[in-house]
Amino acid sequence: MKKTFISGASRGIGLELCKQLLGRNENVIAGCRNPDEAIGLTALQNIHGKLEIVQLNVDEEESVRKCFDRLNERGETIDRLYNNAGIIDWKDLSEVSADSFSNILQTNLRGAFLVLRHSVCCMKRSHNAWIYNMSSRLGSIELRGNTQLGGAIAYQCSKAGLNMLTKQAAIDLADFGINVVSLSPGWVKTEMGGEDAKYEVADSVAKLITVTDQLARDKNGGFFGEDGGEIPW
Ligand SMILES: NC(=O)c1ccc[n+]([C@@H]2O[C@H](COP(=O)([O-])OP(=O)(O)OC[C@H]3O[C@@H](n4cnc5c(N)ncnc54)[C@H](OP(=O)(O)O)[C@@H]3O)[C@@H](O)[C@H]2O)c1
Repeated sequence: MKKTFISGASRGIGLELCKQLLGRNENVIAGCRNPDEAIGLTALQNIHGKLEIVQLNVDEEESVRKCFDRLNERGETIDRLYNNAGIIDWKDLSEVSADSFSNILQTNLRGAFLVLRHSVCCMKRSHNAWIYNMSSRLGSIELRGNTQLGGAIAYQCSKAGLNMLTKQAAIDLADFGINVVSLSPGWVKTEMGGEDAKYEVADSVAKLITVTDQLARDKNGGFFGEDGGEIPW
């Protein structure tokens, strides 16, 4: 049975991914900053024996290294990685602080890079490995100007950078048979997406899982929405 690693699994899309994959009887490793405070994950673990909760702060390389070193030392195979942890600042060019800009890039881009790089040792053992970088249509350079949502400049830059990470990692990891794609979950009712968002979190995640189930190897290096359609870079 497939084993999936999910970063940022304490709440929102990450927690719902854990729930739905466990509902399919799959094995899940959930990475979160504070396992002791991850009430939703603990509740899931009480129902599903196939959930392991591990400490992972994507801002800290030592935390990422330790997490995957432990998994690697016990010979773990990871078939799917949802590089999902993320933060947002909705402020625009004139308002966003330099510190906030750095923080957003640190978590959304550097954090995703660290998780991707340190997970490779476990993903190499899979015969059909996929890394899903959780991006956003707000990271599409081509779609800029076509959305009602303005601002969020740091977030948009971080997701555009994440998309380049997808493209380049897909090339760099091709020899190991590891596929890398960017996904956009749509606008989702989570702490990040807010109450007015289009999708309930369960609906978005169900759609994402359907999309990932159908992705074939010739889609390696692509950018896909929750509707399965390709998103322009
Ligand atoms: N919601 C949307 O409409 C939407 C749209 C497009 C893309 N996305 C993307 O989807 C992903 C999940 O978003 P969401 O809506 O579920 O957001 P959310 O409800 O705010 O949850 C974010 C998750 O990321 C974790 N996280 C943040 N910083 C972290 C760090 N340094 N290390 C480890 N975990 C960290 C949080 O953990 P803590 O509980 O410890 O804070 C939380 O589990 C993000 O990458 C986001 O950009 C969301």
